Amino acid sequence: MKLFVSKFAIVCLTVVTISLNVKAQTIPVETKDHALVLRVSNDKHLDMVYFGGRLADKNEYTTIAKTYRMDDKTDEYNSAYTPAGSRNLLEPAIAVTHADGNKSLDLEYVDHKVTKVNDDVSLLTINLKDPVYDFQVTLNYQTYFDENVTEQWSVIKHHEKKDVVLNKYASANLYLQAGSYWLRNYHGDWAKEMRPEEEQLMHGIKTLDSKLGSRADLFQPPVFMVSLNKPASEDEGEVLYGNVEWSGNYRIDLEVDPANNLRLIAGINNYAGDYTLKPGVEFTTPKVVYTLSNKGKGEASRNLQSWARKYKIVDGEGSRLTLLNNWESTYFDFNEQKLAGILKDTKTLAVDLFLLDDGWFGNKYPRNDDHAGLGDWEENKIKLPDGIAFLTKTAKEDGVKFGIWVEPEMVNPKSELYEKHPDWIVKQPQRPEYYMRNQLVLDLSNPKVQEYVFSIVDKLFTQNPELAYIKWDCNSLMYNSYSAYEKNQGNFYTDYVRGLYHVLDRLRAKYPKVPMMLCSGGGGRVDYGALQYFTEYWPSDNTEPIERIFIQWEYSYFYPALASSNHVTDWGKQPIKFRTDVAMMGKLGFDIVVGKLKPEELAFCQGAVKTYKQYSEAIWHGDQFRLQSPWDNDVASVMYVDQAKGSAIMFNYLVNNRYATGSHLPILLKGLDPDKKYTVSELNLFPGTKSPIAEATYSGKYLMTVGINPDVREWRTSVLLGVNEVK
Ligand code: GLA
Repeated sequence: MKLFVSKFAIVCLTVVTISLNVKAQTIPVETKDHALVLRVSNDKHLDMVYFGGRLADKNEYTTIAKTYRMDDKTDEYNSAYTPAGSRNLLEPAIAVTHADGNKSLDLEYVDHKVTKVNDDVSLLTINLKDPVYDFQVTLNYQTYFDENVTEQWSVIKHHEKKDVVLNKYASANLYLQAGSYWLRNYHGDWAKEMRPEEEQLMHGIKTLDSKLGSRADLFQPPVFMVSLNKPASEDEGEVLYGNVEWSGNYRIDLEVDPANNLRLIAGINNYAGDYTLKPGVEFTTPKVVYTLSNKGKGEASRNLQSWARKYKIVDGEGSRLTLLNNWESTYFDFNEQKLAGILKDTKTLAVDLFLLDDGWFGNKYPRNDDHAGLGDWEENKIKLPDGIAFLTKTAKEDGVKFGIWVEPEMVNPKSELYEKHPDWIVKQPQRPEYYMRNQLVLDLSNPKVQEYVFSIVDKLFTQNPELAYIKWDCNSLMYNSYSAYEKNQGNFYTDYVRGLYHVLDRLRAKYPKVPMMLCSGGGGRVDYGALQYFTEYWPSDNTEPIERIFIQWEYSYFYPALASSNHVTDWGKQPIKFRTDVAMMGKLGFDIVVGKLKPEELAFCQGAVKTYKQYSEAIWHGDQFRLQSPWDNDVASVMYVDQAKGSAIMFNYLVNNRYATGSHLPILLKGLDPDKKYTVSELNLFPGTKSPIAEATYSGKYLMTVGINPDVREWRTSVLLGVNEVK
């Protein structure tokens, strides 16, 4: 046992003392408010005995296990990493086929250590091994103390005589003990992302998973929320949030066991994924991130949001670019002249960047619709005779930045790439091809394909040093999954995502901060595995603002606002003010024909961009409070407060258009300093309209106790209020 100079040192010393007296020892994994307590039993098994409030006296963790009465037929229900094939009878975290064909595994505690990464971050590693086979697992628990967040993963290796096959290889295995368990999870499809469902978990297994290959979500995002004892509300109740940090097939098993406790096992999906592991090679699972809150959903999401900004998404503490995108204004139909006009519009709108979308490439098979060209990343000579260089040059002259769309993992059968490299494509050699959006996926498990995908994006940057933004799309799922490169097909799904991450690692090493949007035919690829490489994500192609209030609301439980790319488009019937106000709740962009705006609409948009910049500190880096849910109220309300509690912005929308609906009652603000005085005034007024809300000063206490009425009505369907400290 090593000694560490950290807040864990005392814990480790305690552990040593206990281990000298008895074989059993207790290993608490602590964050500011919580402790996950592991225990090595007398027979050297590692169990999880507690996940709840942190205790002041660490010695008391040793007595916790006794207070939970459990009739356990295996002594393994609460295993910290349940092995298959020995005495376990429930869902395993790990299942293997040894080199000799034997399918049993047992894991015994060997040792553990705590490494302090910095004042906030500590890593606990626990080594386990099979007493019979030369097979080891290291469990990793990385804690973010102040954020109350833990990331968990495992590293698997063996020194058997031949390859071992991993039949299941989860990242995390948690054990929760409560009276009842309430799961909130999500389903969806294109333009229908993040639809929530909440249910009580009963005995047996509920599995959330994806088998889509190239994108984790779409049908079922890799996030979950489990409330203990009763469904948590925004400010009350104990709730666990989690996300599998993996952009491919994932699996989360939630099993209420015979002792009425909840076993949660999460990681890569083992579907068609028996992974062949060579002797001496380490298999590192993706991380699963989770946070526990005993103050409801609001606190849990703020935990995850601040963790993500600080540690996960690229430039999470930096700024974001407002932009004008041309996707919905031109689709594939543009040329240099048209784009030069849009660059001028970008300037007129006073946003930072013009984002050129799909359709700029392909010559033998021009990308004039979604049937052709994917894979051939040369500028189309008819549309762009002077190449991207013309656009970066014109953008510079106009004083705006320039960004571009790519979808480098994909190929259309109508492309030169398809003709040249059929073996680079994911497809079954003996079966007919099956397409989503007329395209196929490139085999990123193949290092040559990784090199190709890297070089596409790298070349864009090296040839166009002014390039300031990338929208990275991924529109197809994987059908007929088969890799011409892989020897063991079971490795393919995992190696695809690893190949993708390898490419993104290289790009980020070379271009560490350039903003990149993670897009996937709408919001089909939002997870913290991918977001470690991106500054923002595209929540959905559905930009109808009422829909977006719901979609953005649900994403906000797990992801910070500055990562949510929200574009004002022509979807739906809401006025431009409503659409812009909704888009301002994250990273603001526009995808409209600026020339078609009436003068007052243009003036409104220009003013909104200014207001957005004024409040961006609160929106990007502040705390978010969901005040009134669109699901249960006529008026949905969300606010953002900057870290200094000096400036806040409150968004209010009418989401029910029945007669005489609106904000009849005041809405209680949150997150302000009760002792400070704040001025409240209406923002983003449409030119020619007046606010019925007279600018006035209130104490923070008043605003959080009595509240404020935004006066939302049929003719004021969207109301933004600015709340600013009087100094
Ligand atoms: C996907 C994206 C859209 C757009 C198109 C381009 O559908 O979600 O925003 O970029 O691709 O083909």
